[in-house]
Amino acid sequence: MAVITSIDDLKRLHKKRTPKMFFDYAESGSYTEQTFRDNTTDFAKIRLRQKVAVDMSGRSTASKMAGQPVAMPVALAPIGLCGMQRADGEIKAARAAAQFGVPFTLSTMSICSIEDVGAHCPDPFWFQLYVMNDNDFVDAIIERAKAANCSALVLTLDLQILGQRHKDLKNGLSAPPKLTLPVMMDMATKLRWGMEMLGTPRRGFGNIIGHAKGVGDTASLMSWTAEQFDPKLDWAKIGRIRDQWGGKLILKGILDPEDARIAADFGADAIVVSNHGGRQLDGALSSIRMLPSIKAAVGDKIEVWLDSGIRSGQDVLKALALGASGTMIGRAYLHGLGAMGEAGVTQALQILQKELDVTMALCGERNVQDLGRSNLMVPNGFFDHYN
Ligand code: GLV
Repeated sequence: MAVITSIDDLKRLHKKRTPKMFFDYAESGSYTEQTFRDNTTDFAKIRLRQKVAVDMSGRSTASKMAGQPVAMPVALAPIGLCGMQRADGEIKAARAAAQFGVPFTLSTMSICSIEDVGAHCPDPFWFQLYVMNDNDFVDAIIERAKAANCSALVLTLDLQILGQRHKDLKNGLSAPPKLTLPVMMDMATKLRWGMEMLGTPRRGFGNIIGHAKGVGDTASLMSWTAEQFDPKLDWAKIGRIRDQWGGKLILKGILDPEDARIAADFGADAIVVSNHGGRQLDGALSSIRMLPSIKAAVGDKIEVWLDSGIRSGQDVLKALALGASGTMIGRAYLHGLGAMGEAGVTQALQILQKELDVTMALCGERNVQDLGRSNLMVPNGFFDHYN
């Protein structure tokens, strides 16, 4: 196998080794995919300021996220159907993250259940909640997350209805996949994936099946979201969830300074500046472009993190330099998982950390916590928002 040197290399292997339906699910944005593309191309427009003759010994990427020590300020974001990219995917990713010393977030729409990940992972993990119409289900899943010793609740605010991803409709996305002729022909070229899947019982939505009432089609993310997600979610309901949970709370999916101000006053531990990886509101600005105005709106009242578009340690550095104290990665670790399972997630994290460390040194910095605006060169007008 060729030597792997970047997240892009892992992405190529992920694509080669994973059924098209699931790779496409990961590598999609909604509608025209404008925001999905902007998330990465905007990072590329920001340049770094080189500094020389600065002592670069004794460097550290260590930091804290929501009070938790982290080897680098990069948490694994929640990913729906993660365990379809590779058998037992959530367990593998959670283990790799624990071993590396960064947080793992389990999605409500995961394949492996909360209990299963809890039983197979040495460290507490974070749980991401989608708020459903069924209050009993929401109450119960919060209690399940507590019982599994989850150390933070990540509440996603930007997906009460699903932005359409054209490829998922065309591919007939479902978990487990329906074995149509085109799907079987595709799988015939992904033998390792298939053998591993046959060897695990975890092939449906583990947190849902057997726990939720009146679900029309448990295999379809699209019908589940349309039928079950609560379109009336508001700050009052978020407040009830905060009180029931009683632990660390992270609000994910904030892309507007005014929403950020409300979130900061609300009393959460962190907000995640995010457009859901370009998968929801197509036409929204990239997260990195929105970051400075959101940071300015909340100051140090609340931790500000960023996701959407991070594919390298350089991207992590840029987010930190623009005021984020943490980041989340989705596709960047998923490519590792799809390529090589648990070892691939570890390799993705190693790649990011090494890129972050070397880039920081060449910018004349020794500690990720010292990065700032002076490390960057940004095109004029880059942060002037559209009116
Ligand atoms: C779910 O969170 C998705 O973006 O598909």
